Amino acid sequence: MKKYVVIGNPISHSLSPELHNYWIKQNGLNAIYDKKKLNDNDLKSLISDVKQGNINGVNVTVPFKNAVIPYLDDLSDEAKKTQAVNTIFLKDKKVFGHNTDIEGFEYAIKKIDFDFKNKTVFILGAGGVVPSIIYASMKMGSSEIIVSNRTKEKVKKIKNIFDNIKLIDWGKVPNFDVIINATSLGLNQEDKINLDFTNIGKNKLFYDVIYNPSETYFLNAGKKSGNKYENGKLMFVYQAFSAFKLWHNIEPIINNETIRLLDQ
Ligand code: ATR
Repeated sequence: MKKYVVIGNPISHSLSPELHNYWIKQNGLNAIYDKKKLNDNDLKSLISDVKQGNINGVNVTVPFKNAVIPYLDDLSDEAKKTQAVNTIFLKDKKVFGHNTDIEGFEYAIKKIDFDFKNKTVFILGAGGVVPSIIYASMKMGSSEIIVSNRTKEKVKKIKNIFDNIKLIDWGKVPNFDVIINATSLGLNQEDKINLDFTNIGKNKLFYDVIYNPSETYFLNAGKKSGNKYENGKLMFVYQAFSAFKLWHNIEPIINNETIRLLDQ
């Protein structure tokens, strides 16, 4: 039986096993997908399990998307450019790291039919998924990317990867066409983002990487101001879709039932 695992810390909230095991069953594969809470010093032995074929694929979530890189033999261009890995497998006897968060975000944006061409994208946060969102936004033709994070030190690391992004102080709201919440603010229903959206105008997209709860305070602000808004559910489903396709060489089905698996 083939073995797959998602690693992170914390990990109990992860719905990746629900999605992957559903697709595994649907396709009659002899495989199982589990979740594992790890610490930094467990990464080396986990990757050596991949090398030895004891584990066939790994998904990586917070806080290891960057930390896992030194243990890998090779990276895709996307993983190199974002310095982030969320999907690992053995390729030509080498432990290979790829980043499907980029495709996940692109698919999700395509699905809601919002054109990023020549748009200003304003990103809140500097966590593990931000480099992927920046890279995907650039690929989709955005003209300017502005990032704001409460802790300046953390956002400087992202500036080192993408020199052409603009940084602004936490609390300020510049002119933008797309605003993306990539902070963890909103995971708790009572979380509020203290930003002033009263003068932002119309035809904007409010995008929240969070999908549970499905409508955060941030998305509600987008809704109340008459703008388009979307949560991170499709991005999550599509990053899993791309990982599944890489591992099993099968395009899994995405339908209402798949998406309902994430309503927990
Ligand atoms: P992830 O990789 O999932 O984004 P993370 O690395 O813990 O997780 O990042 C969480 C993000 O939410 C960070 O950008 C964090 O800001 P700091 O770098 O200043 O910690 C942001 N965040 C969390 N709580 C916040 C709060 N109360 N106000 C503003 N930003 C917050």
